[in-house]
Amino acid sequence: MTQHDPQQDIWKQQVGEAAAKLVEDNMIVGLGTGSTANQFILALGRRVQQGLRIAGAVSSSQASHDLATSMGIPVADLDTYPELDIYIDGADEIDPQLQLIKGAGGALLREKIVASSARRFVVIADTSKLVQRLGLLFPVPVEVVPFAITPVRKRLEALGAVVTTRQRAGQTFITENQNLILDCAFPDGIADPVTLNAHLHAIVGVVETGLFLQMAKQAVIGGADGVHIIQ
Ligand code: 5RP
Repeated sequence: MTQHDPQQDIWKQQVGEAAAKLVEDNMIVGLGTGSTANQFILALGRRVQQGLRIAGAVSSSQASHDLATSMGIPVADLDTYPELDIYIDGADEIDPQLQLIKGAGGALLREKIVASSARRFVVIADTSKLVQRLGLLFPVPVEVVPFAITPVRKRLEALGAVVTTRQRAGQTFITENQNLILDCAFPDGIADPVTLNAHLHAIVGVVETGLFLQMAKQAVIGGADGVHIIQ
């Protein structure tokens, strides 16, 4: 895990504000989850309060829903808005092809569902999230049906993962979908994310993985040199 740098908070705020400017009148907007996505939601809320009229929003977590609602953003669900114009979210790692590891906050399943329902997925982050190879800083979170947890763990270990059942506050972490998360560390990083993701999805009992591949179209990155777009 990377060390917290207070400067990162400023960069997150800057990318949140830059991302909010990508939202235009009458768009349907997907809201990500996490501290960077929160900065986007706050900035979007300020724009809505200043007169931006978005058609609606869909949130990837209860926390983002609550924050957005408190800012006056009209949040609905995928039944109301099955197709979104834009989805904006953070990431734990971003490689040069805009392949991502996501899910440190535990919202990966809903994040991937909302991202895949959007015409455009923009990932926002500070420079600490940029990596040359996925998997060296963060494990890949794998969301698993509780009934299958032990056989799935064995099959993940057979793929070379060092597996930890996610805990929070001393308790087994349960997702908003009532599943568990197995964090899968790959000590040498992930040489071929596409093949690994296919192997993970082939395990019965795996619901979703935190590998977001060929999904993000653009990255808005904040750092010491200001805000940059990668696409
Ligand atoms: C939550 C996520 C987050 O987007 C990811 O963990 C980045 O979070 P932060 O912006 O707080 O670093 O995938 O499930």
